[in-house]
Amino acid sequence: MNNDLVNAVSQVDTAFKFIFGVSIVILLLITVTILYFLYRYNKKRNPVPSDIDGNMVAETIWIVVPCLIVAAMFWYGWTGYKALRNAPADSYQIKVTARMWSWTFAYPNGKTSDKLYVPANTPIKLDMTAKDVIHSFFAPAFRIKMDTVPGMQTYTWFYSGRPAEYDIQCAEYCGVGHSRMMTKIVVVPQDKFKAWLNDTGLASKTGEGQALFKKYGCADCHSMDGSVIMGPSLKDIYNKDVVVVINGKEKTVKADDAYLKASIYDPAADVVKGFDNVMPPFKDSMPEKDLMQIIGYIKGTEAKANTGADGAKVAEREGCLGCHSTDGSVIVGPSFKGLMDRKVEVTKNGKKIQITADEAYIISSIKTPQEDIVVGFDGSMPPYDGLTEADMKALVEYIGSLK
Ligand code: CUA
Repeated sequence: MNNDLVNAVSQVDTAFKFIFGVSIVILLLITVTILYFLYRYNKKRNPVPSDIDGNMVAETIWIVVPCLIVAAMFWYGWTGYKALRNAPADSYQIKVTARMWSWTFAYPNGKTSDKLYVPANTPIKLDMTAKDVIHSFFAPAFRIKMDTVPGMQTYTWFYSGRPAEYDIQCAEYCGVGHSRMMTKIVVVPQDKFKAWLNDTGLASKTGEGQALFKKYGCADCHSMDGSVIMGPSLKDIYNKDVVVVINGKEKTVKADDAYLKASIYDPAADVVKGFDNVMPPFKDSMPEKDLMQIIGYIKGTEAKANTGADGAKVAEREGCLGCHSTDGSVIVGPSFKGLMDRKVEVTKNGKKIQITADEAYIISSIKTPQEDIVVGFDGSMPPYDGLTEADMKALVEYIGSLK
């Protein structure tokens, strides 16, 4: 491990202390000089002002000394900057997504969390973006602060060190929830981190196949809703005819078990027409057991409805609870408590109307909050249209359970 890089924190501190120290010394020098001049050159003691014309020694000193000081500041700043920007090649990579007003951390195996869990004594690289407006990832303990920008990837890194908890605070004003947009970095021993990471909780909740589909990264390129990401969508693909290119020739094949298996283990052999041959082969990295479960998920034979997704977790993960309490108190938006089936007054198209907050209303309020804002609230909620159906269902059920 390169010591310079691990010492990014101390490099930043060195630059800070140097600039701060120089500033203090200069402040004292100027103050003392001012006081001395007040005493020595006031009108009583020095009635006739002298006219000094050129002083080579003084001029040389006040040009050379500040130049050296600024050059030294630059040097300390530059080495600290390099340490902050050069993430070690063996860094553990975590994806960070900021949104109003919460953080989501995604790990290489697809697991997500709203606190940043990291293994101890490991360089951690954060690849960051934002969903809505500019936020800023600020972890003072590690001396890092980096903006997260919609439509753009930024990064930062830090060396996790010993197990402990540290603060993360959004450092870019992003709306009414900005001040509460905070979470924690939790550094845990490496073996504990591994156990935590592999306990995805997904397997029992959403079906093993779906969890594996995410874990192997399939979901990064193949949608299940018909949209095209990188590869063909796998929606309803089972037993459909697809046109593939084999050795430069087009051929129509049936997407049955054998075809799906071959396409996962050796994708280059028959690439679906219109797509690039970019998928890596999974022959050596995916045990047959996992393969069968993924195919089961693609076929749709796996019980999709029976997700039993935990609504409370969805509410926490999506940041709902940052603005909506569950105990009747008002944070930013209306409390979830007793919301379901209550009569509420909303503003719709500029008119105030009475409605019942039933399931349909709550779903539309999550997807398009601006359409009907509860009277007395300011409509600052961003639309949440990216929830899966299962998560939405669980969330609405959860809200309904808060009587
Ligand atoms: Cu996010 Cu301020």
